[in-house]
Amino acid sequence: MPRSTEAPSLIPERDRLAGDLTVAVVGHRRDGHARSLIKRLDTLGARASFVELSASTFSTLHPSGLALPGFDSRLPDGVIVRAIAAGSFEAVTRRLGVLHALREEGVLVWNDARAIERCVDKSMTTFLIARNGLPTPQTWTVEGRAEALRIARRETLQGPLVLKPLFGSQGRGLRLIRSARDLPEDSAVASVYYLQRFVGGVGPEHSDFRVLVSHGKIVAAMRRHAAHWITNVKQGGRPEAVELDETLAQLAIRSTAAVEADFAGVDILLASDGKPYVLEVNSMPAWRGLQSVSGSDIAETIAQDFLNVLHERVLGRRTA
Ligand SMILES: Nc1ncnc2c1ncn2[C@@H]1O[C@H](COP(=O)(O)OP(=O)(O)OP(=O)(O)O)[C@@H](O)[C@H]1O
Ligand SMILES: [Mg+2]
Repeated sequence: MPRSTEAPSLIPERDRLAGDLTVAVVGHRRDGHARSLIKRLDTLGARASFVELSASTFSTLHPSGLALPGFDSRLPDGVIVRAIAAGSFEAVTRRLGVLHALREEGVLVWNDARAIERCVDKSMTTFLIARNGLPTPQTWTVEGRAEALRIARRETLQGPLVLKPLFGSQGRGLRLIRSARDLPEDSAVASVYYLQRFVGGVGPEHSDFRVLVSHGKIVAAMRRHAAHWITNVKQGGRPEAVELDETLAQLAIRSTAAVEADFAGVDILLASDGKPYVLEVNSMPAWRGLQSVSGSDIAETIAQDFLNVLHERVLGRRTA
């Protein structure tokens, strides 16, 4: 009997596909988060490697207009952005441009440049959170000390404000503004004053929540305790595992959706009356502190969620 040339495969299409998929993890080789993402992606069957955006090139000579180191003439099927290295305004604009272009070329990018831009600029995050009807402290973002003084004089009558760098960084550079005199000169804040109502308690113990969301669900959550009102783990905050109630879980999920991020770290603070406020959404969250108190493997969950979406997308294209 002649053998069929089309013997049905026992391996599902999804699993055969996994080995074909190439994924670039954007970040730094020395970053443990990027390394663990690559390890989990490899274990799940994809071919993953590091890419530094600074070494990625726009080139009109290239068929796709882009060249990523290690990817020869093809672009990767997917990209996970773990971090964008600091650089000049021009350099960071160009790196974000590479991520925009990858999405334009049909590459799945988590988080894509639009979501990163919405989160890096704290005033845009606040705008979107508030516009989506989610609770966030009253916030004003203005240019120039004269306008900031006007707001501080008026608003500190009701209590202190927090001044934050527009491009925040792990609790650095935040100041409590008790009176207009506490406002620094323009040069200290690049002339941009992001002023927010202080909604924390009086101490001696302070805490807030960090919630990691991926693909519309909660991956892990912690409560950060500190003697100071700035509770970031990098600033000495002590992480504690916590079971999120449904209100906080939904708030974190909806905040992530408001900035259209695929995965994000959401900071939520409970005011003294118990009301939750979203402080920020981080589109390139670190998870070392969270992993130390979480039973689930965070890198694996993100890698798995990403590959599930990538599989669906590539399978959809092949059957279209
Ligand atoms: N409005 C506020 N009222 C009380 N405490 C605040 C307020 N805003 C921030 N904090 C405290 O400061 C910490 C850091 O603030 P936030 O999360 O906004 O910026 P960041 O962590 O420095 O920014 P990024 O995560 O983008 O690096 C919060 O975790 C919280 O402990
Ligand atoms: Mg934060």
